[in-house]
Amino acid sequence: MSRRRIIAGNWKMNMRLDTATALAKGVAESVGENPEVDVVLCPPSIYLSAVGTAVEGTPVGLGAQNLYAAQDGAFTGEVNAAMLTDVGCGYVILGHSERRALLGETDQQISEKLHSALAGNLTPIVCVGETLEDRESGQTEQVVETQVRGSLAGLDAGQAASIVLASEPVWAIGTGNTATPEQAEEVHAFIRKLLGEIFSAEIAGQIRIQYGGSVKPNNATELLGQPNIDGALVGGASLKVEDFAGIIHAG
Ligand code: PGA
Repeated sequence: MSRRRIIAGNWKMNMRLDTATALAKGVAESVGENPEVDVVLCPPSIYLSAVGTAVEGTPVGLGAQNLYAAQDGAFTGEVNAAMLTDVGCGYVILGHSERRALLGETDQQISEKLHSALAGNLTPIVCVGETLEDRESGQTEQVVETQVRGSLAGLDAGQAASIVLASEPVWAIGTGNTATPEQAEEVHAFIRKLLGEIFSAEIAGQIRIQYGGSVKPNNATELLGQPNIDGALVGGASLKVEDFAGIIHAG
């Protein structure tokens, strides 16, 4: 079956409110009414409402960059799935490598967040990816397999079909060193095979796998042309309308 492409902009902790709303409006304008791909913007959580208002009535989706798995309670500083849906989120990025590396997020925590996101009707974008050291020591598949199995633990096949995975080599994030289309496709094909083993070939064929790591307008067409690359998770190039639009409209 053919999978609909999904292009998401991860704004991380960049920009201020006025830039965020202007960027959101610019993206919505460039996307038009009937895009051929799903487009999602993931601003800092404090700006979700404002960005949601800026893209209201357009096909542009809204996503958070994280959530806390627990229900209401004494969790100072945290935000849960229900709160994210209250402000219009349809998506949430989980297990981004910056959170894994800087905040020590584990596969188990990511799996708890994943179940919480699904229970709250959010589409999770679950990130996995190897470091340069992993790649150079020939451990890419092993590392990615551990992350996929751990992060998706306890998921049933029906739930799995609706999730999005993002394969993001850590060495390619924010570095300008994009994986070659062949390197990316190799990992994506491996992940899809693995999903087939965990769930079924049919479910694996439905799960969208984004590539992330220095995606730019000038490399998007080739990356997105690979059979197992179903979209992009974009950091730096999502901060400018022109660049992000170039990726959205990449043939
Ligand atoms: P980048 O970030 O496009 O700036 O490399 C990608 C990401 O972190 O998701």
